[in-house]
Amino acid sequence: MSDNEKVDSESKSRSGRFNEPVSAEVQRFTASVAFDQRLAEFDIEASLAHARMLQAAGIIAEGELAAIEKGMAQIRAEVRAGSFPWSEAHEDVHLNIERRLTDLAGEAGKRLHTARSRNDQVATDLRLYLRSAIDQTLGLVKGLQRALLDLADEHVDTVMPGYTHMQAAQPVSFAHHLMAYFEMLARDAQRLVDCRKRVNRLPLGAAALAGTSLPIDRQTVAKELGFEGVCENSLDAVSDRDFAIEFCACAALVMTHLSRFCEEIILWANPRFGFVKLADRYCTGSSIMPQKKNPDVAELIRGKTGRVNGHLVALLTLMKAQPLAYNRDNQEDKEPLFDTADTIAASLAVFTEMLSALEVNREEMRRAAKLGHITATDLAEYLVRKGVPFREAHEAVAQAVRHAESRGAELAKLGLADLKRFSARIGEDVFEVLALEGSLRARSHLGGTAPARVKAAIAKARKALR
Ligand code: ARG
Repeated sequence: MSDNEKVDSESKSRSGRFNEPVSAEVQRFTASVAFDQRLAEFDIEASLAHARMLQAAGIIAEGELAAIEKGMAQIRAEVRAGSFPWSEAHEDVHLNIERRLTDLAGEAGKRLHTARSRNDQVATDLRLYLRSAIDQTLGLVKGLQRALLDLADEHVDTVMPGYTHMQAAQPVSFAHHLMAYFEMLARDAQRLVDCRKRVNRLPLGAAALAGTSLPIDRQTVAKELGFEGVCENSLDAVSDRDFAIEFCACAALVMTHLSRFCEEIILWANPRFGFVKLADRYCTGSSIMPQKKNPDVAELIRGKTGRVNGHLVALLTLMKAQPLAYNRDNQEDKEPLFDTADTIAASLAVFTEMLSALEVNREEMRRAAKLGHITATDLAEYLVRKGVPFREAHEAVAQAVRHAESRGAELAKLGLADLKRFSARIGEDVFEVLALEGSLRARSHLGGTAPARVKAAIAKARKALR
């Protein structure tokens, strides 16, 4: 026997139908066990539910079920201990486990694959895996939301410049700024919860594509595995991976939000801003420049967003133009999906730690907020309250800003006589309006940055998180 034949004769997907063994190159090319073995625990769980159903339906005997359960218990222990004899000769996680079960349980092991195919098996495993990955991700998103609330609690009254076009625009509370990210993450969590509903359906019973002539009971299997229902069409059940694509889209948005936040932290940590200091343990040095302290963690999260976005496009492209029903293309769904889940989990965890260790420089934020005539809009709205049409008020303040600029002064630093030149309606009460605190306090409507309003928003968010 040649090496090839030896390998091939052990393979379960190879039968008497073939005249020659698969080539070593093809075996290597088609095997997925190197990456799909992480589905092992889900594969075992699904097989046990399937076997129990087969026994209840009278398709296998009680003793056979017992032998399968015993064999699977040992296999699970071997997988956990890292002693399971994974082999590329058995292609994927499913055949490796079935092969091992037959070694351990004999005849009974050979009956497990009744009324099932690897097509509905792999779709089931993947959904079980993804359901648990979603639950883990949701926990991490909540953890980050909690860290945001803790930080926001301390900075309701911290004033910072709010930006548009990265130019100072209007003063905002730093807590309000943080709560913007809380909102993004709340939507991310909602999306994941919604995605989970569509992930949590049982494909098993679809067999290869057309179901089975044997008397199976899909509802019982669904219930035992914690699925909310079954996939209603056998062709769809084995072929579509839209649930995985949806998860990757949710993940891409999580990463996009983290990436935006990271970008801001990178800017804020730059001494030109000086708004925050990153704890040393989240920074790295340079191999050549001794003075450097770099925000690599934030940069890496920003960078990994590209990788997660790439996985989304990979899965969309994988699915595009696949005819019904199962095609081997779908084996390519696993690596992008696994890496997506791993990447967002790692990014969320490290980001949360980094945020919790952030040192905020209130004085520096305040100093920056005093620049750029930042309360000019407040002055325009002040004039509106005094009866001036907004467009006129806008122009009057624009002139005042121009005047301040020519003096090298800030708008808020001009005297009353100076200000009155631009509108006779300006009075002594204008200085409250031009001050940072006055500006903040005045924006007390729903969704505004007034400290009292932000405090209420934090309390509401905390309640919603529980
Ligand atoms: N390893 C395969 C996958 O991940 C399992 C299904 C194989 N089915 C088949 N008909 N070859 O998709």
